[in-house]
Amino acid sequence: MNVRLLPGALAFLFTATLFGQGCPPPTNIPVGSCAPQSGTVSNFSGDTGTMRVRKSIFKLSAAEIAELKLAFQKLRALPATDPRTWMAQAKVHCWYCSGDGTTVPDVHSNWAFLPWHRDFLYNLEKTLGTLVGNPNFALPYWDWNTPDTSACTGHLKVPPPYLGGGTANSLFDCYRKISSTTTMDVNRVGAARINTLLTNNNTFDLFFGTATTSSAMSPGPHGYVHLWVGNPSTLSGTQDMGILDTAARDPLFWAHHANIDRIWEMWIAKYGTPTYPSGFRSQNWLFWNQNKVRTRMTGGDAADRATRLKYRYDPPCGTLTVNQLPDFVQLTPTPLTVHAQAAIAPDHEFNIKGVTGRNVVLHLEDVTVPANEGAILRVYINKPSATAAESADDIAGVGNFVEELFIVPSRSPDSENHEGHEHKMHIKIALPPEIAAEVERAKGEVDVTIVPVAAGDEGVLMGVPTTANVRLKKPYISVE
Ligand code: C2O
Repeated sequence: MNVRLLPGALAFLFTATLFGQGCPPPTNIPVGSCAPQSGTVSNFSGDTGTMRVRKSIFKLSAAEIAELKLAFQKLRALPATDPRTWMAQAKVHCWYCSGDGTTVPDVHSNWAFLPWHRDFLYNLEKTLGTLVGNPNFALPYWDWNTPDTSACTGHLKVPPPYLGGGTANSLFDCYRKISSTTTMDVNRVGAARINTLLTNNNTFDLFFGTATTSSAMSPGPHGYVHLWVGNPSTLSGTQDMGILDTAARDPLFWAHHANIDRIWEMWIAKYGTPTYPSGFRSQNWLFWNQNKVRTRMTGGDAADRATRLKYRYDPPCGTLTVNQLPDFVQLTPTPLTVHAQAAIAPDHEFNIKGVTGRNVVLHLEDVTVPANEGAILRVYINKPSATAAESADDIAGVGNFVEELFIVPSRSPDSENHEGHEHKMHIKIALPPEIAAEVERAKGEVDVTIVPVAAGDEGVLMGVPTTANVRLKKPYISVE
């Protein structure tokens, strides 16, 4: 045997399996030659299936994890002639980040960032579903921004299904810097960081970017996770996630980007669905769909996720992310009715039955009262006709809910140094099962009526309700 032929022969023999697992020597992977294969282009016509549900990777059942692994195994095993292969997917990503810098703008540096990745994930999700014969198959999301709870820990680490098992585990990638014990910096990707990011980026242009400026997410938490998983400076050539050319070779890429995509929905839950500019909607790109057809998809397809792409997000485990609306309401002696809602995507099913053992909670946040005043408030659910003239006993009954709050002054009414002092409370009101069921029927939306009442016999509070000098944030509901 001619020894000099051996490397080439080995490469030929083992290309399929080595590429299939993602652990070939880095030099064997042609970075930079990621021009897409040609093919007739057809325009995406909208998903006609049922709504798929993307779950947190930390909430998947053993059977769902097995299906996820099988799907990636089949993806890796596709013959190189198939345009949907694991490597072909990575090349599509490579092409749109640096493949041809002169004619294809990098989708990471402008408002293409969120919709491009959404459309990209859509095609992989449908392809994996086709490979395992499950049209309802949905990608999981790696919610690094969910706080750990006793029910569910390890959000800041690589999710366990993606680790271990070596080449037998289709979700494993040897080109990572991290192990099962390394932990991301909570200040860079945790709940507080994401809340701040959402609060600060309160306009369309700031959050989504523009045709020429970056989305807040891209160089923010998104970039941090890429570099954390595969830091290019420490891995010299073995850095899948750490370089955009190779990032989509790591199965973790898809779970990371599903979470980025979910944060788009969190922005909508906070601010409402934006009017997407026509230039945002008309941007378009080419992908390989689940039927090997080269498909043109647009920013508009991504913007109309629920109707065009047909998927939604299941909430993470632990406390739901709730809607912390910034606007304060000022009470007056007249009853005030405000609309409270759970912060969930509009088409999310508010399923109390699915959260057995958890409570539906009404939040009255930043209830603020001057230190030398008190207040008595009745809080009704779905009773906008409530007045101070009716007692709580009159109204409480089957299907009604009222909670009385007695806020005691913290300083004497005539104390001299109360100027500028307030007390502030975050009041949580757990709702009983029948009211929780009503909230569920209303898909997480209810009216909350707050009625200031006179102290009367109940106590010695002064100036109630003639002042009702109470402010609070707009109420919201959570499941926890
Ligand atoms: Cu297209 Cu997270 O990179």
